[in-house]
Formats: sequence, C-alpha cells, structure tokens
Amino acid sequence: MFEVKDIKESSLAENPVVQRMSQYNHEQLLFCNDNATGLKAIIAVHNTTLGPALGGTRMWNYSNELEALNDVLRLSRGMTYKNSISGLNLGGGKAVIIGDSRKNKSEALFRRFGKFVESLGGKYITAEDVGISPQDMTWVNMETNNVVGLPGKSGDPSPVTAYGVYMGMKAAAKVQFGSDSLTGKKIAVQGVGHVGEYLVGYLAKENADIFITDIHDATLKHVANKYGAHVVGLDVIYTIDMDIYAPCALGATVNDETLAKLNCSIIAGAANNQLGDETIHGEVLKEKGIIYVPDFMLNAGGVINCYAEVKGLTSEWAMTKAAEIYDTSLNIINRSNKDNVPTYKIANKMAEERIASIGRVKLPM
Ligand SMILES: NC(=O)c1ccc[n+]([C@@H]2O[C@H](COP(=O)([O-])OP(=O)(O)OC[C@H]3O[C@@H](n4cnc5c(N)ncnc54)[C@H](O)[C@@H]3O)[C@@H](O)[C@H]2O)c1
Repeated sequence: MFEVKDIKESSLAENPVVQRMSQYNHEQLLFCNDNATGLKAIIAVHNTTLGPALGGTRMWNYSNELEALNDVLRLSRGMTYKNSISGLNLGGGKAVIIGDSRKNKSEALFRRFGKFVESLGGKYITAEDVGISPQDMTWVNMETNNVVGLPGKSGDPSPVTAYGVYMGMKAAAKVQFGSDSLTGKKIAVQGVGHVGEYLVGYLAKENADIFITDIHDATLKHVANKYGAHVVGLDVIYTIDMDIYAPCALGATVNDETLAKLNCSIIAGAANNQLGDETIHGEVLKEKGIIYVPDFMLNAGGVINCYAEVKGLTSEWAMTKAAEIYDTSLNIINRSNKDNVPTYKIANKMAEERIASIGRVKLPM
C-alpha cells in the first residue's frame, strides 16, 4: 500500500498534483474554496469501480496545503481497500476541510461544503470523521443527500466496529492458540473511547483478563470499574506480559521502539494505520510469529454501518456483515502462514483482486 512518507518528502514542484494522483491512480480531486464562508477543502475520489466513493470528511488544522493533499490522497485510497475487502459495493473517497474544528465551524461553511459534495453528482458520499460532528453533517445534508451518519439514522458506528474487531481477534486466537475462546487471555486495550469500551464489553463477557490504558483519567476509571479491567500506564501497556495487544487509540504504535518491547502473540485493534511502516514492521511481525490482523479490514464495521444506511439495510444486517470479519481474518492469516507472506500484503492483494474482478464484470456487454 501507499507509503505516506515517500510523498511528504517531495515538494509540489518535484511531484505536481496530477502526477501525485497518477502515483496512486486517483480518479478525481475537487479543490473547494469559498472566501465568504472561509471554506477550504479537498475532496478525493480514489476509485469508483465497485460503486460510489464513500469516506468521511476530516476537519484538521493542517500546517500547509501539501499536508492536507497528502492526507486526503492517502485516506481516500485506504477507503478503496477497506470497502473492497469488506465486500461492499462502494469505492473509496475522502474529504478534508482545512481549519480548526474548535474555531472555524459554521452552518454556512458546511452548507457550502455540501454544495461541493452535491456537484460530484453522487460519485462521492460523505460521513463524519475526525473533527466532524453529526450536527455538522445535518448542515451538509441541507445541500446534498450524499451524506450518511446523520442523527437518527444508522447512528454511532462504534458498536459495529468493536464487534468486527472482536470477531477478527477471535479468528486470530483460533489460529494462534488452537481455540477462538478468549477466556483467561491477557488482552491489552490501548484507548477505551467509543470503540475501546465496546470492545472491552465483549472481552469481559468472555472473561478475558483485560488491561487498559487511556490518556483520559475519567474514561479509564469508568471502564475499569464497569468491566473489572486492570489499569496500566500509558507506556507500560507495551511492556506487560499479554496474549493480545489491541490498539484502539492512535496509529503507528507498532514501530521499532515498541516492537522491541511488545510481548504478545496477536495484534488486533481498531486504530487506523497501526504499523509505523507497513513494509518494515509487517515483515518483522511475521518473522517474530506475531499475528497482525490488518487494521483496515478489522475495523471496517464503521463503514459497514454507513453502507447499511446508504442501502436502507437494518442494523442487524450490519452486525451480521461485521461478523464476516471472522472468516476474512481466518482466510488472510491462513494464506499468510501458507505462503509465508505478511498478513498486510495478503489483505491488500485480496482488496485489489476484488476490484480487478468486479471491474471486468462491469465492462460493457
Ligand atoms: N469509531 C469507529 O467506528 C471507528 C471505525 C474505524 C476506525 N476507528 C479508529 O479506532 C480508533 C478509536 O476510535 P474511537 O471512535 O473509539 O475514538 P475515541 O476518540 O472515542 O477514543 C479514543 C480513545 O483513545 C484515547 N487516547 C488518545 N491518545 C491516547 C494515548 N496516547 N494512549 C492511550 N489512549 C489514548 C482517548 O482518550 C480516547 O478515549 C481511532 O484510531 C479511529 O480512527 C474508529
């Protein structure tokens, strides 16, 4: 998959926009500006072979436009892979709004953004991401119907995401320990926010031995008391004797430094981009015999929930679809072991193969 650091190092003069698009084979970029509302945004449509490009809008105070451009290119491509491997009829897209989500929000800004989404004629469907609330999306929705995650619709995706992570974790346990029971397994959950807390709930029901950490003390105490989890320090989480490490807060926590300490047999969590450098750390994990369940496949419950909203399907359908993450994880891990190839490579290949084969189905008769 795409290495973000490769392009961040190149300037726009060295690597201009359209060249950058061709590097990742993006279909379309829409640069959006409106002086009256202060809107500055980029919408990236990476690939629509499987269907309209679905991916959230992120509002972030990027330090420069190049950073925003690289982020939207990377994130939209990631959505293509996530939607493909999850068996959804959706392509990959993403949008970024450049600005401070605590200071620069207004109804006018989001409605103007909604008009830009609408101008793509259904090729891109947006949703919430970092820095965006359901209220913001209701403003976007005043100008376009190509939006999901609205209040009163499919709702908070976190329970579905947590369920998918839990199922994939069980599949990894089946391969690594010979049984998918998590009873008595030492499981460390880093970050017990929306997804982390629901995940801890599933693990507690199976009587796993749960260790948690979080930067937010009140959240930590609440989850520890509710589920009887052991609290550990922010850095201690990497050093404890555990069976499973579940990163549910930040990306890139599996890196040179933490790999020297991590004492686990499985890595399975909700966070995006868990490997600091996919090619390096994906290989190291394979060599160490640690099963890494690829994050973009494992945490797809959220987008499955969005898909249910797009297609008018029920929440039961979304949970059943998220349960398929068990079989997909088993398939990836077994192929990885059989071919001695890191799991992330197998997952990427599976996503690419589905796009290629469905692309052929869609050719004119
Ligand atoms: N919500 C979803 O449905 C969904 C779907 C796919 C992926 N994800 C990813 O899963 C992760 C968790 O999502 P969420 O919705 O639960 O977010 P959240 O913000 O509700 O929870 C994250 C938690 O991590 C804690 N945290 C932050 N930095 C930390 C650190 N250094 N050490 C320990 N804890 C730390 C926060 O205090 C918070 O409680 C994110 O990376 C998100 O991108 C979420």
